[in-house]
Amino acid sequence: MTANVEAKVEETPKVTLIAGDGIGPEITRATQRLLAAAGARVTWEEQVAGVTGVERAGDPLPSATIESIARNKVALKGPLGTPIGGGFRSVNVALRQHFDLYANVRPVRTLVGVPSRYTDVDLIVVRENTEDIYSGVEHYVGPGRNAAESIAIITRHGSERIVAYALELAIARGRKKVTLVHKANILKMSNGLFLDVGREVAKRYPQIAFNDMIVDATCMKLVTNPTQFDVIVTMNLFGDILSDLTAGLVGGLGVAPGGNIGREAAIFEAVHGTAPDIAGKGIANPTALMLSAAMMLDHLGQGSVADAVRAGVTAALAGPHRTGDLGGDANTERFTDACIAALPK
Ligand SMILES: NC(=O)c1ccc[n+]([C@@H]2O[C@H](COP(=O)([O-])OP(=O)(O)OC[C@H]3O[C@@H](n4cnc5c(N)ncnc54)[C@H](O)[C@@H]3O)[C@@H](O)[C@H]2O)c1
Repeated sequence: MTANVEAKVEETPKVTLIAGDGIGPEITRATQRLLAAAGARVTWEEQVAGVTGVERAGDPLPSATIESIARNKVALKGPLGTPIGGGFRSVNVALRQHFDLYANVRPVRTLVGVPSRYTDVDLIVVRENTEDIYSGVEHYVGPGRNAAESIAIITRHGSERIVAYALELAIARGRKKVTLVHKANILKMSNGLFLDVGREVAKRYPQIAFNDMIVDATCMKLVTNPTQFDVIVTMNLFGDILSDLTAGLVGGLGVAPGGNIGREAAIFEAVHGTAPDIAGKGIANPTALMLSAAMMLDHLGQGSVADAVRAGVTAALAGPHRTGDLGGDANTERFTDACIAALPK
């Protein structure tokens, strides 16, 4: 009996939970409630960051939080505000850099009940998260503030691992096609390297169809006929823009989940901010964090629970208990109750 209990405890992964600022704690509690009802095997280890980190531990990214993520290797994070007073760098960027979270994964799928232009979008954007024009190499040129340059750094290593990640993800998720997005017709060296390395890597995965597309044409095709896309892999700047564009195809950032994944750790997070205008009112929409938590469960090997969570959220969104941002009159609690009631039996 004791041995069984111990074995079960060992099987339950620990996850660092950063509830975050603003509406963060409200949507986090709702997500924890749904996951518990769905039977997720997770032990939460609560840590703080952002404004709450400064208030409770004097640091927007306390070392205890970093150590917890390093230990557990998986975190679920609510939105973080940047503390007022200046001098604080973005905690989200700091976490990505510290843990080398090179893959930003943003799936978008049409949700019945969420107003949007299309009825059948289902694609994943995989964005390289550490290189490109966001490498932090920029300076003013000459005297005064009359010219500036930012340097885009693309490496063979960075290109190789992100394209391989996208192809592996395609296989794991039963996807058929990966489209590499670039601007190699103009940026022949940096984007040309990304494209050439991507083509080399794709040869190792003959079971996945692979094509490439120039970023401006991609934008046009995404807004006119998004169903032709399956998995998109691209560099940091284009990925930043395309992942918000694609979120807009299914109802916006309020319903968009995301994950930042590296070899040593993975952090799953809602894409929206702290919504200070509605914080503390109990009316926030927890959909994005719930769907991010489902991605986390996939990552933890609990795919059937993840599918159940997605089914519950999807069914609740299609029903009469939507939150105010989606035109409904439910509060966070009533919407969460509806998600739980809609979990597959
Ligand atoms: N991932 C993050 O940690 C993250 C991302 C973006 C912004 N931020 C921070 O959030 C703060 C506010 O940023 P902002 O106002 O530009 O963007 P925001 O996403 O917080 O809010 C924009 C609008 O969307 C609404 N909204 C957002 N999420 C919602 C939800 N779950 N349910 C219902 N309504 C929702 C808000 O009420 C607001 O009207 C800033 O401090 C910003 O730095 C954090």
